[in-house]
Amino acid sequence: MSKDVKKVLVIPGDGIGTEVTAEAVNVLKKVCKTHEIPLDIDYADLGGIAYDKCGTPFPAETLEKARQSDAILLGAVGGPKWEALDYSIRPERGLLGIRKELDLFANLRPAKTFAVLAGASSLKEHLVAGLDIMIIRELTSGIYFGQPRGVETLPNGEQRGFNTEEYTTSQVKRIAKVAFEIAGSRAKNLCSIDKANVLEVTEMWRNILTAENVNYKDIKLSHMYVDNAAMQLVRSPKQFDVIVTNNLFGDILSDIAAMLTGSLGMLPSASLGALREDGKRYALYEPVHGSAPDIAGKGIANPLATILSVAMMLKYSFNNSKAAKSVEDAVERVLNKGFRTADIYTPDSDASKKLFTKEMGEAVLSEL
Ligand code: NAD
Ligand code: IPM
Ligand code: MN
Repeated sequence: MSKDVKKVLVIPGDGIGTEVTAEAVNVLKKVCKTHEIPLDIDYADLGGIAYDKCGTPFPAETLEKARQSDAILLGAVGGPKWEALDYSIRPERGLLGIRKELDLFANLRPAKTFAVLAGASSLKEHLVAGLDIMIIRELTSGIYFGQPRGVETLPNGEQRGFNTEEYTTSQVKRIAKVAFEIAGSRAKNLCSIDKANVLEVTEMWRNILTAENVNYKDIKLSHMYVDNAAMQLVRSPKQFDVIVTNNLFGDILSDIAAMLTGSLGMLPSASLGALREDGKRYALYEPVHGSAPDIAGKGIANPLATILSVAMMLKYSFNNSKAAKSVEDAVERVLNKGFRTADIYTPDSDASKKLFTKEMGEAVLSEL
């Protein structure tokens, strides 16, 4: 096989994960063909489907294939079927496991409002029109992975549940570096979000960010407490350019930011590892949303977040901004024509036409 063949591992996962990745894979194939990017696609299981097939949400074969890949495209994992399982074998463990094993510490979640979708947001149109925020979430540490964790029974019979929020200097420094560099390529405004008024670990985070700022003097760094940030995101979201925050706050704030773009079904993401010695990095691309059990199987999920994740793959893993832009432009043209999945459909506008997942995927394909 020629050296520049791009090996993409597709992990559809559970629920609407399978529905949205099917459309995104079609887009990936077509854009790679047009831009002469040789592509080799393979598939693997993760999450609930992997548990059902092999008794583990994260089979060794999936990790092996992931390690061999240039990029991973993931749908979503989880669902009510597996909620009663022990934490160690829940579908979500598979996702956390692959992030941790590949050390995908930098999670980029861009919230960009397409002009024609400003009216689909739950916020007033003028607040979100033209919005373009990059949320950078630390993804492989913090309370998601901190030890000790668990639930114990106390002598008095009461239960005590506990988790640990933790960061080391190097973990904060490396995510800070990513954030400063991305801010440098944008409007140069970086807002670090923490809870430094209460939590020591986040005060440390704040101090490290401030110290790192001397290496990036052209970046205007500000700090905000997370409660205020959640409020500011719905009060006046356009004040933000780049946001950097820990694993837990990033999870929550990015779902809030999704609604600024019209729907959770619109938000893509890239989870990136550090550059390796061979000059490559592990990278996983996935929509910010989950497996959406409430609509799974109905064929109505919005595939655009996953399709836009393909655009991020083209940009960040294949260094092909032109191909990436062609996908984003195709999505924009489809939206401009009035095509909508149910989540972004506004019945009062007669110019808009409601599409199924498949039809939306085909609409993007025909615009490519
Ligand atoms: P969810 O993101 O799956 O759904 C939240 C709401 O948004 C639902 O009403 C859903 O219908 C809607 N929605 C989400 N994606 C959509 C799309 N593409 N098009 C239209 N509507 C969409 O969150 P949840 O319901 O809290 O979680 C469901 C399951 O997914 C849980 O098991 C959870 O752990 C898992 N989850 C997985 C991921 C992931 O794999 N990355 C992310 C979040 C949640
Ligand atoms: C996300 C999801 C995951 C997270 C879950 C499913 C483990 O909500 O990717 O945003 O919390 O990171
Ligand atoms: Mn989430």
